[in-house]
This record gives sequence, structure tokens and C-alpha cells, in this order.
Amino acid sequence: MLLGVNIDHIAVLREARKINDPDPLDAIALAVRAGADQITIHLREDRRHINDDDARRIIAHSPVPVNLECSVNPDIVEIVAELKPHRATFVPENREEVTTEGGLNFETQYANLDKAVHYLKAREIETSFFIDPTKEAIKAAKGIGVAWVELHTGAYANIYAMLYSNLKNTPHCIKELDVERSKLSKMLKASLEALEIAADEGEEYGLKVAAGHGLNYQNVKAICALQNIVELNIGQSIIARSVFSGFEEAVKEMRARLQ
Ligand code: PXP
Repeated sequence: MLLGVNIDHIAVLREARKINDPDPLDAIALAVRAGADQITIHLREDRRHINDDDARRIIAHSPVPVNLECSVNPDIVEIVAELKPHRATFVPENREEVTTEGGLNFETQYANLDKAVHYLKAREIETSFFIDPTKEAIKAAKGIGVAWVELHTGAYANIYAMLYSNLKNTPHCIKELDVERSKLSKMLKASLEALEIAADEGEEYGLKVAAGHGLNYQNVKAICALQNIVELNIGQSIIARSVFSGFEEAVKEMRARLQ
């Protein structure tokens, strides 16, 4: 299983003070030494964490491929074309959200996605779509011609957290998942099945299938067991653990769980 380490949250910490420390670039060598196969960053339209200068320096200096998550906004696509990351992963973006809430909407964005993918492919940038785990989304992604899809594991991660952690008894309880444990168990099973079916479908279509969002040291095990998922992009849980155990150790530990 390939590990893409998402380092956005290092820039989140820097932006909390609007200074120049910590520098996400400093994480690259440590992540690679600890076993990261890829560095993932998200250049958001509002630049709330990673900025253009970070992206430029990270892409220039990373010894492993850089996966740049971005919206389909034409101004952003133009910047991505200039930055030339190894891969661009298109994600839906909503200014109000805390983090990416769902997969791409092909009904409203098909033409823009199609245009952006062909624009970047012509510049030899690999492309990927962040999608909900549905057959329809896999089919739409295949139709446009991306090499990769990344399955959104957020729904699975939320159910897992409500079932197996103490989230329910905190101010961050997810209200719509505040249901009986037996119901949550069924929902967890269904969310895993959806991921498995989508991954199998993707593989059948010849797509490379990644997954990510909300994955942590506990919930990653079941995802690793899904045969046709070949890469995981993980950020928040690794950076959170770094606060207590150091970044390199946190990446190493995640690497070990993926084996
Ligand atoms: N993959 C994608 C497409 C994402 O948008 C994110 C969040 O930026 C991640 C993976 C990593 O999610 P997390 O920080 O919850 O591990």
C-alpha cells in the first residue's frame, strides 16, 4: 500500500500565527525517511494553509512525487499547469467547509472537469478525481480519462469515530450519526462495502484507486484490507500524532500499519 502524507496541517499551524514557522517544506525529508511514497498538498482557493510559494518549493524539492489537490477553478488549473506536480487530484471546494465534504459532482462539473483533465494531461500531469464511492462516479471518471480516482473515506471514518471512539460524548458529536450502535455497525459495514465495490469497479475499468479522508491509526486497518485500493492519502491524524511523538515517528507508525 502506497502512503501519501498530506502535510497541509503543518501550514495550518503556521497560518494560526501568520508567520514562517513551521515550514511544510521541512517535513519532506522526514516523511520520505519515515517511508512516505508521496507528498500530498491542497492548494485551496482561499489559501487557508498551503500557498503558491509552498507548493512551488515542495514540488521543486520533493524527492518523491507530489500529489496536488485542487479545485477545477480555471485560475487554479492554470497555476497547477505552471507548477507541474506529478499528479493533480481534483476535489470539490466550498469556501465555508472545514474540510472537503464530499466527492466531485459530475452532473454540475462534467464539462469543467473534462476540460481541466485534458489541459493538464497535455502538459504531462497525471490526473485524479476525488469521488464518492459509487459506480456512477467511477464510470464518469473513466469516461473523462483520468488515470486515478481517490475514494472519499470520510463517511466511513465518521461512522467509525461515532462507533469506536468517544466522539459521541464530546461537543463534536456528529448529530446525524447519533443513533443506536447496532445501526451504526450496519452503516459501517455498508460504507466499507461501498468502498470495496467502487475499488473493484475502478480496477476493472483500469483505473488506479486511492482512498483518503479521515483515516487514522485505528480505522485504517479495514481500508488496507480492500484489495484494489493501492494508495492512501493521510494527513490530519499523522500531524495530530506528531504533536506528541514527533513527525517522523508518526509517519513511521502509519507506514507500519499499512504494511
Ligand atoms: N485526500 C483528499 C482528496 C483530501 O482532500 C484530504 C484532506 O485534505 C485528504 C486526503 C487527507 O485527509 P485527512 O487530513 O483527513 O487525513
